[in-house]
Amino acid sequence: MASSSTFSIILGILQATIFLISIARTVTIADPSPLESEAIAMVESGWWSNYSNNASERCQWPGISCNTAGSITKINISDVPNIEVGDRFGKLNFTSFPNLVLLDLSDRPLGGKIPHQIGNLSALKQLDLSFCGLSGELPPSLGNLTQLEYLDISYNYNINGSIPPQLGNLVNLVSLNLSGTSLSGSIPPFLGLLTNLRHLLLDRNQFDDGNNTIPQNLWNLRGLETLSLSGCGIVGPIPSALGQLLNLKSLILWANKINGSIPSAVGFLSNLTYFDVYDNRLFGSIPFSLYQLTNLETLYLGNNQLEGSIPQNIEKLMNIKVLSITNTSITGHIPLALCRLTKLEYINLHENQISGSIPSCIGKLFNLRILYLDSNLFEGLIPEEIGNLANLTSLSLSQNKLSGSIPSCIGNLSNLHTLDLDSNLLKGPIPAEIGRLFHLSNLNLSFNQLSGSVPILSATKLRIIDAGNNCNKISPDPFEGNSRLSPYMCPSPVTNKAKSSTILYYLKIFLPIAIFFAFSILGYFLFSRFKLKNNRVGAQPTRNGDLCSIWNYDGKIAYEDIVAATEDFDFRYCIGVGGYGSVYRAQLPCGKVVALKKLHRLEAENPAFDKSFRNEIKFLTEIRHRSIVKLHGFCLHRRSMFLIYEYMENGSLFCNLRDEVEAVEMDWTKRVEIIKGIAHALSYLHYDCSPPIVHRDISSNNVLLNSSFEAFVADFGTAKMLDLESSNQTMIVGTCGYVAPELAYTLVVTEKCDVYSFGVVALETLMGKHPEELLSWLSSPTSLVNMRLIDVLDNRLPLPTSQLVAQNLVRIATLAFACLNPQPKSRPTMKEVCEELVCGQTSLGVPLRMISLLQLVNCEKHIGGKTGTCNV
Ligand SMILES: *[C@@H]1O[C@H](CO)[C@@H](O)[C@H](O)[C@H]1NC(C)=O
Ligand SMILES: *[C@@H]1O[C@H](CO)[C@@H](O)[C@H](O)[C@H]1NC(C)=O
Ligand SMILES: *[C@@H]1O[C@H](CO)[C@@H](O)[C@H](O)[C@H]1NC(C)=O
Ligand SMILES: *[C@@H]1O[C@H](CO)[C@@H](O)[C@H](O)[C@H]1NC(C)=O
Ligand SMILES: *[C@@H]1O[C@H](CO)[C@@H](O)[C@H](O)[C@H]1NC(C)=O
Ligand SMILES: *[C@@H]1O[C@H](CO)[C@@H](O)[C@H](O)[C@H]1NC(C)=O
Ligand SMILES: *[C@@H]1O[C@H](CO)[C@@H](O)[C@H](O)[C@H]1NC(C)=O
Ligand SMILES: *[C@@H]1O[C@H](CO)[C@@H](O)[C@H](O)[C@H]1NC(C)=O
Ligand SMILES: *[C@@H]1O[C@H](CO)[C@@H](O)[C@H](O)[C@H]1NC(C)=O
Ligand SMILES: *[C@@H]1O[C@H](CO)[C@@H](O)[C@H](O)[C@H]1NC(C)=O
Repeated sequence: MASSSTFSIILGILQATIFLISIARTVTIADPSPLESEAIAMVESGWWSNYSNNASERCQWPGISCNTAGSITKINISDVPNIEVGDRFGKLNFTSFPNLVLLDLSDRPLGGKIPHQIGNLSALKQLDLSFCGLSGELPPSLGNLTQLEYLDISYNYNINGSIPPQLGNLVNLVSLNLSGTSLSGSIPPFLGLLTNLRHLLLDRNQFDDGNNTIPQNLWNLRGLETLSLSGCGIVGPIPSALGQLLNLKSLILWANKINGSIPSAVGFLSNLTYFDVYDNRLFGSIPFSLYQLTNLETLYLGNNQLEGSIPQNIEKLMNIKVLSITNTSITGHIPLALCRLTKLEYINLHENQISGSIPSCIGKLFNLRILYLDSNLFEGLIPEEIGNLANLTSLSLSQNKLSGSIPSCIGNLSNLHTLDLDSNLLKGPIPAEIGRLFHLSNLNLSFNQLSGSVPILSATKLRIIDAGNNCNKISPDPFEGNSRLSPYMCPSPVTNKAKSSTILYYLKIFLPIAIFFAFSILGYFLFSRFKLKNNRVGAQPTRNGDLCSIWNYDGKIAYEDIVAATEDFDFRYCIGVGGYGSVYRAQLPCGKVVALKKLHRLEAENPAFDKSFRNEIKFLTEIRHRSIVKLHGFCLHRRSMFLIYEYMENGSLFCNLRDEVEAVEMDWTKRVEIIKGIAHALSYLHYDCSPPIVHRDISSNNVLLNSSFEAFVADFGTAKMLDLESSNQTMIVGTCGYVAPELAYTLVVTEKCDVYSFGVVALETLMGKHPEELLSWLSSPTSLVNMRLIDVLDNRLPLPTSQLVAQNLVRIATLAFACLNPQPKSRPTMKEVCEELVCGQTSLGVPLRMISLLQLVNCEKHIGGKTGTCNV
């Protein structure tokens, strides 16, 4: 019995085993293998749909790396063209990639939040989502990525909430960068437990303003090489524990409210190359030990209440390139030892109380490019040896007590762009050699005791205004306040007459309408290839050596980069001049081309312009849309303020419509797309932003075109958030010819003002010129009876042959007339305009050439009243 029962048990076990095996088999057959799941996930993500849908070739798709087993290990599409992730970010099945170690989507516009499933990428070591336009809170599931070593979510301005405590699980992290987001709360103490951290960057966040201390245990992270906490609202002193971070190379704490003195323990940080505490509340004297840091290359101490003098033993800073101690209370003399620091490229001691003379040995600093000693108590002569500084581009000695005459050897400084010697006690004639400084774009010799006559200036970059009587004056007058100088002769400052008249011509056209972007007017500058030397000052070992990520650090480094790329805003790089700013093209050392909008120096001090600049920053850092120009960064530097944009190869719509060649290249299909782009951008501003944003200055100047003539709305200097509570009364802003008529009497801004301006730009795009005349006829529509649409269409283009294009033109013209309705209420909303542009079904009842403008104007009534489409 026993044996038979044993037998049946064994049989049972066998049967069960066979059963289980067969189940297991069916399961394996039903469930895809890991490799198959990967393939499915890749296809379903849709990211590569423009390349291939054949998943068996996925290891060859761009941006993909696989291991030998054919499983994906890396996805890096940060630089791959023609991939559209966008809203499909969350469509990738993150659970299907058991071997993925690297995901780099930086610089790709991604929509929405970081999907919480990202926590399923269990093998991930590197995650880069910087500059992706992401929003919302950081998902706690990021804490599941315990293998992570490198995490970069920087410069996603709309990421908010606090840093999730789960990030404390990421014990393998080596580099954490959360700069440039809207994270709030405080700097979490658990970061001090991530003992492998070498780089911690939390610059420019919304941490509790003014009441945030650096957690004590951060000073225990002995491995730290980079600690960058600028603009974090930090209060309290820097503890002596700082001296424990022996590996520190960059300590960046600018724009906080740190008080106390600089601890002398800083002298232990022998590897330090970059020290920046600019703009804090530090007081006391600069510790002697700071001057022992032989590896230091960049030192920013300005905008504090530091005192004392620059000691003789500054000579130990053998590697220093950037020395900036501005606007503090430094006294004493410049030590001769400074002249031994021959690597110096940048000295800025602006606004201190340094006295004595400027040592003549300064002429030995042959790498010097920028020397600002202005607003101090210097006296004595300007040393002749300054003329040896052949690389000098900017020299400012203004607002001192310098006497004697201007040494003629300053005329040797052929690279000089800025020469400010104003408000001193300088005597004698202005050396004629100054006239040879061809690159000068800033000259100020005012308020001295100069005598004699004004030399003939060869510089073509000085800002010239037409003072009437064919007299071209330099503005502002660089010579005023010198009573013994012969009366200001209207200089003919430009030897090259043709050039001068071109400049004047442009100024005449552009000044009244306040153009910022006149990209193509000096288009010929564009085509010359600039070979740029990588002569950055204070260069940082930025992440991956990628110089474009300079924004991860701070505006001042960016400033130096931009100065290098444009050779201190050399006119050669200027591609447009506007009412109060100039636009430059800059190729950064990494090859990326950007556009810079820079305020003229005087205007930068004008609060109104300053406000408009800050306004633009506020809006453009918060909004992101494919038809709105992208802001890459900004710099609000004391000496120059500029914004950095995506570069638009084709310049403004205005200029393209006026250029005979470009106008023809902009065929009807492109023009339709341009108008659609503007409409979508405006609809986004009015309906997808909360509170809604009114641009207030839509004009063809403020629509920029990229190389494929796609439209981007630019210039948010006057944009305004609609306050739904208050009356929204304002001053009139905007460009003449585009401003809605009701603004003249009501001064109330509504989004319907933009709708009107859109109508003008749409018609302008169809007609190829501003529809001034047509606008005046609109008040008496009967005058339109005999006008046909084709009579006003841009006659540089042949009439459309395609029925579809013709329908689009009719639809746009109809919408434009509706937008130009004098009654704001009767104008359609931008949302309606977009819907109509995308879904409208205008089937032409009559041929295009028969359609009269009156028909279109009458038709508009239906659109405004939402009665649907109108068949012409
Ligand atoms: C997919 O690619 C593989 C390998 O190149 C090839 O053998 C196969 O025919 C392709 N399939 C299709 C549907 O194109
Ligand atoms: C991704 O690819 C780009 C361009 O090839 C490269 O510069 C970058 O370093 C890569 N990212 C990572 C994390 O390796
Ligand atoms: C991808 O293809 C679609 C149509 O297949 C096209 O509309 C889109 O512009 C393409 N995207 C890119 C980036 O080429
Ligand atoms: C994602 O992949 C996993 C594993 O491959 C699978 O179990 C899951 O069903 C997939 N999810 C979706 C939504 O397809
Ligand atoms: C995938 O992520 C979700 C959300 O974080 C989690 O609930 C789920 O368990 C994960 N799936 C796997 C297979 O890890
Ligand atoms: C991942 O994280 C989420 C949220 O923290 C958690 O609920 C989930 O259980 C985690 N999944 C795994 C597989 O650890
Ligand atoms: C984050 O921003 C979104 C809007 O983008 C908002 O709805 C949400 O409340 C914000 N969250 C926090 C914690 O501020
Ligand atoms: C600052 O923070 C501390 C604790 O972090 C808190 O006790 C104190 O009330 C805060 N002070 C202010 C002015 O918010
Ligand atoms: C400083 O840097 C050197 C070389 O980069 C390195 O070997 C050393 O460990 C670092 N730390 C200290 C404390 O010197
Ligand atoms: C200008 O600077 C470069 C390096 O930036 C240096 O090689 C050159 O010698 C300098 N010019 C002079 C005249 O010293």
